[in-house]
Amino acid sequence: MELLDTYGRIARDLRLSVTDRCSLRCHYCMPAEGVPLIPRPELLTADEMVRLAGIAVGDLGVSRIRVTGGEPLVRRDLAAIVERLADLTPRPELALTTNGVGLAGRAHELARAGLDRVTVSLDTLDPTTFATLARRDRLSDVLAAIRAAVALWPGRVKINAVALPETLAEAPALLDFARSVGAELRFIEGMPFAAGSVERVVTAADILAELGRHVTLTPDEAGRDKAPAERWRVDGGPDRVGVIASVTRPFCRDCERTRLTSDGMVRSCLFDHVETDLRTPMRAGATDAVLAAAWQAAMWAKPAGHRIGAPDFRPPERPMSAIGG
Ligand code: 5AD
Ligand code: SF4
Repeated sequence: MELLDTYGRIARDLRLSVTDRCSLRCHYCMPAEGVPLIPRPELLTADEMVRLAGIAVGDLGVSRIRVTGGEPLVRRDLAAIVERLADLTPRPELALTTNGVGLAGRAHELARAGLDRVTVSLDTLDPTTFATLARRDRLSDVLAAIRAAVALWPGRVKINAVALPETLAEAPALLDFARSVGAELRFIEGMPFAAGSVERVVTAADILAELGRHVTLTPDEAGRDKAPAERWRVDGGPDRVGVIASVTRPFCRDCERTRLTSDGMVRSCLFDHVETDLRTPMRAGATDAVLAAAWQAAMWAKPAGHRIGAPDFRPPERPMSAIGG
């Protein structure tokens, strides 16, 4: 069985949000006072998460799991969860998206647990700008996290930077930093959510123009690969830089993603308003087969695309931290 939709796409990539809690308060993700948190009893237990991930991998053809949040490191049992995901059959590829806070001290246990690759978010190299954007003064933690990650997962660390007006001029410096540590940098166009605010979208074209003043970019023949990033070789390679143009050049047609929120809802798309509750039937005793069928039905109804910019577009009510990045 596979997670097929009416447009012929097959979801092989599960974004598993393990918590909606976060150690930062990035202004494009949430307001200063934070966002309403999912009540504890509604959060999946580790056992429940692993069971649902096992159904995705064992019965529904999912081959890659990306652990997301909120901030996954907020969970003390993260390495234990990763270890159990690595035990699934067939063994999925395991990736983590993190803001980096606290990663330096825990990277070893995550590598031992079986984590294959890591993406760390970093929007700026300036401590003051960082403290303003994330509303927490933690830049040095994040830089330490990136260095620790590169040492443990050489060639498998990415840095995600949301493209923002405040940091556009810093794009070349971010690229220099990523190249100097051996991580691949990707810029992401800011996306509209009801909870966060991206005042002005800095586009892929803006980023490429800024970078182009400092380096020579040539389109990478490997193209978008399975990832949504379009990639460029920097000064002839081997270093590359990616741009995820979710808004101006959406990759919805090739989307292979399915999402499970930390309260057990399947979302077929980041921007869909429909969620399919697996937690309630699971807690009422549903079999794996029943849960798998519900997951398939949820994905069958996946919309063609996000329609950002359409006149009737409404951003999702739930913040990015609750949906999973
Ligand atoms: N637009 C684009 N990216 C976002 N992220 C969080 N909010 C937004 C948004 N509104 C990013 C984070 C992190 C990943 C999980 O998603 O910076 O890199
Ligand atoms: Fe920032 Fe991610 Fe936390 Fe949102 S969930 S506040 S984007 S670190």
